[in-house]
Amino acid sequence: MAEDLYLAAKAAMAKCHAPYSKFPVGAAIRADDGKIYAGANIENLSFPEGWCAETTAISHMVMAGGRKIVEIAVIAEKLALCPPCGGCRQRIREFADQGTKIYLCDDVGVGKTMTMDELLPHSFQTDVIG
Ligand code: THU
Repeated sequence: MAEDLYLAAKAAMAKCHAPYSKFPVGAAIRADDGKIYAGANIENLSFPEGWCAETTAISHMVMAGGRKIVEIAVIAEKLALCPPCGGCRQRIREFADQGTKIYLCDDVGVGKTMTMDELLPHSFQTDVIG
């Protein structure tokens, strides 16, 4: 059930630091360790230095020892069903499978469920690096 992820993403959104865009975003990941890792967007006066909610959530997951995104919810205060930006799609992909579910939320709950493959088809993958 994604209700707990939705609530975690919404609670995280309330902690955003978005004084420039005034576009609060929250994200919550259920990781392979069974735990939920959440994050909000954190902006900077030097605009390109800010980062997205999904990135914060991924950072929390990795630093806590989680290595796989089982499912992830995203919510934005001012845009129902806000899809992750292009950069975050690739960041999510790093820790997800093509079938991993991404829940796009609105102010009442999960409004649309998409797979990683739908959000980022033909994603960059190669076995010649590393
Ligand atoms: N933002 C996210 O946090 N996640 C996304 O996937 C889309 C955009 C943030 C970045 C910035 O702080 C604000 O939304 C406006 O672009």
